[in-house]
Amino acid sequence: MGSTKFLWGAASAAYQVEGAWQADGKGLSNWDIYTNVYRATEPVTGKQETGNIAINAYDREQYLQDIALMRQLGLNCYRFSLCWSRLLPDGVGRVNEAGVAHYQQFVVDLLEAGIEPVVTLYHWDLPRALDDRGGWYNPESVAWFRHYASLVRETLGPKVTKFITFNEPFIDLFLIEPMVENIKTGIGDPFAITDAQYGRQAVALHHWLLANAQVIGDYRAAGYRGEIGVALPLMPTIPENPGKSDDILSAALGDAVINRWCLDALFKGRYPVEVMNSIQALNPEFTVTEADLAVLAANRPDFLGVNFYAPAYVRHDPLKPLGINWMETNPDPAPAAFNGPVRPDYLRRLLERIRDDYDNPPVYITENGAGFGPVDEVIDGDTVNDPRRANYIRRHVEAALKARESGVDLRGYMVWSLFDNFEWLQGYGRRFGIVHVDFDSQKRTPKRSFEAYREIIARGVEPAGG
Ligand code: NOJ
Repeated sequence: MGSTKFLWGAASAAYQVEGAWQADGKGLSNWDIYTNVYRATEPVTGKQETGNIAINAYDREQYLQDIALMRQLGLNCYRFSLCWSRLLPDGVGRVNEAGVAHYQQFVVDLLEAGIEPVVTLYHWDLPRALDDRGGWYNPESVAWFRHYASLVRETLGPKVTKFITFNEPFIDLFLIEPMVENIKTGIGDPFAITDAQYGRQAVALHHWLLANAQVIGDYRAAGYRGEIGVALPLMPTIPENPGKSDDILSAALGDAVINRWCLDALFKGRYPVEVMNSIQALNPEFTVTEADLAVLAANRPDFLGVNFYAPAYVRHDPLKPLGINWMETNPDPAPAAFNGPVRPDYLRRLLERIRDDYDNPPVYITENGAGFGPVDEVIDGDTVNDPRRANYIRRHVEAALKARESGVDLRGYMVWSLFDNFEWLQGYGRRFGIVHVDFDSQKRTPKRSFEAYREIIARGVEPAGG
């Protein structure tokens, strides 16, 4: 363990950066439809924003310049996701060779720059053809994903040593997808997520977890020699009012639903009892067979990807699904980032909990970063002053490395994100990059936080494990 190279990276996702939404035989994805047809960003941002161009990262001339910036920063890995409908325009069946060639070239270009590719198979953009067939709610989705993952293994597997099957199940299935559904069906408040939606999405999550386990099994059976894991959005839950029993109970149930559901499934092969009970109360059709649990138990991931932004203060609220209000409360006095209170101490606690409760698996921080408002994005000559983001990154890396010193098997850190990009339903107004992007000209300008991260990487880490 002591000799394993620590990975310093940055993370991104296809729909947020690639653009080129109709190039080279690509099929349409659910997100192409949401943004172009349903104008899904409008109720949230007041503008119709799409990923049609995004930050132009599909373009080789552009991405070679971006790779040059990665080298300047000192990255030794880069996490990105594949657009499924570039590879399989209809989700299954016909292969788009131009899409395969594009990703093969990108992998080679990264490797030639000394940067290890960390490839996410699914970061929320589903081929439209499969979305039309019910998406992840359809039990056939497990087979669709296995088929796609096999193509990826055969075409990219020989050069890629780390795959991540799924990104952030909870956020996509229990927040973003229900919001999009509310927008499509014309419900005024996209955030008005219901118990019925939770009950249904639980079935979709079960399919993700089964698909993940099956694909891990398939990769191992095919002799894949690299590592394969999952990236979870982990949020320690804190009762908003620690003296109120309702808040304490909702925070505990919130922890089971947001964190332990996936962690227990992946690393213990079972679902928390309180999750089963509370979800079955919402949807009696939600059942899990012994055979399914055996599949989960037999295919433990090689590593856990931790996406950490903030803890969640939980208030009991009978109007929210399962009574859990985890998004609207923040009693912390320090200014919050877009994704919540800035509390690096909770990152350390979270990592130590994973060490203690899940048998110390190898961990990569696969996302950590900060969005702040316009006051924190001051363009100053040829740089951008973003002291809060620089400070956020410094403090979180420090907390993570302390956890590593206390025996957590932490093997890497990836910042979200290298570039400002398309923040889903929040569009282009929410900047997370350590490099500023002018979305009209595509000009890139490193921010002060880029320099801060460069210094952190240059300093390096002590060998772990003693
Ligand atoms: C997590 C998601 O994986 C990513 O796509 C998103 O942009 C960041 N969080 C920031 O909110």
